[in-house]
Amino acid sequence: MKKIRKAVIPVAGLGTRFLPATKAIPKEMLTIVDRPTIQYIVEEVVASGIEEVILITSEGKSAIENHFDYNYELDTILKEKKKDALRKELAQTSSLIDVVSVRQKEPLGLGHAIWMARKVVGEEPFLVLLGDDLVRSQTPCCRQMIDLYEQVNESIVAIQHVPMDQTYQYGIVEGEKTHLDRTYKVERMVEKPAPGTSNSDMAIIGRYLLMPEVFAALGKTNPGHGGEIQLTDALQSLTAQRGMYAYEFEGKRYDAGDKLGYLKAIIDIAMDHPTLGEPLRDHITSVCTCDKHG
Ligand code: G1P
Repeated sequence: MKKIRKAVIPVAGLGTRFLPATKAIPKEMLTIVDRPTIQYIVEEVVASGIEEVILITSEGKSAIENHFDYNYELDTILKEKKKDALRKELAQTSSLIDVVSVRQKEPLGLGHAIWMARKVVGEEPFLVLLGDDLVRSQTPCCRQMIDLYEQVNESIVAIQHVPMDQTYQYGIVEGEKTHLDRTYKVERMVEKPAPGTSNSDMAIIGRYLLMPEVFAALGKTNPGHGGEIQLTDALQSLTAQRGMYAYEFEGKRYDAGDKLGYLKAIIDIAMDHPTLGEPLRDHITSVCTCDKHG
């Protein structure tokens, strides 16, 4: 069985849902408490034992690459000012991982973005993480998926149950429960099904562990939902070809690509922060009490 060594993170999207905040900065660089969203994703990758990150980028996204790079000038200034703790923290960020970038030259969809990684990934299974989905869990979500992969040696999509009236927003998986904990054998998947066209509430969240055969499937995938080349459509053909599992991960997922989801992530992460947690709780309590009593 091949080891999982690489993670692909598509970051080419425009971030229109966060305009005007994202007019001049990538949405992946929006801050959650004290670090950009993308750093949480990369930290999950690192904590799962992955060695290399492949970013699929587009024009205007160089801030993300710079964030994970060493900044000599900044380091020199911090050294002069004896800001050692901060220097150490920044050094940790830049040493987190090896980052390779591939440009997606045209916005043809998520499937096309992943296909762009084919030469860098090569003939080995790999992870895909979507930057909008933040998962907080004891065992990193990707680690949970790698542990399952070591038992099934097949592709896996992470899923969660969603209310039936929200299924049209997701890739939806239909399948049968297996003898393995929280694991389903996938029978069919559909990208953003029209209401009433699927009975399943199992939604794909942005974590995938994929066999390299997905690239051949992506190469043959025609534009689907929204006129874009959809990863879900390629995964449906991979399901038919060699099998696929869906895994109900343990943890809490935030849709950080949505304003309310983003705010929830900020609040929850800040509440667990060693110094900000307590004063924030006090503040929230006072705000809520005022609301109730006018
Ligand atoms: C993408 C995928 C979809 C998945 C979702 C999870 O959609 O295409 O299958 O359920 O991410 O966040 P998007 O939200 O980018 O439109």
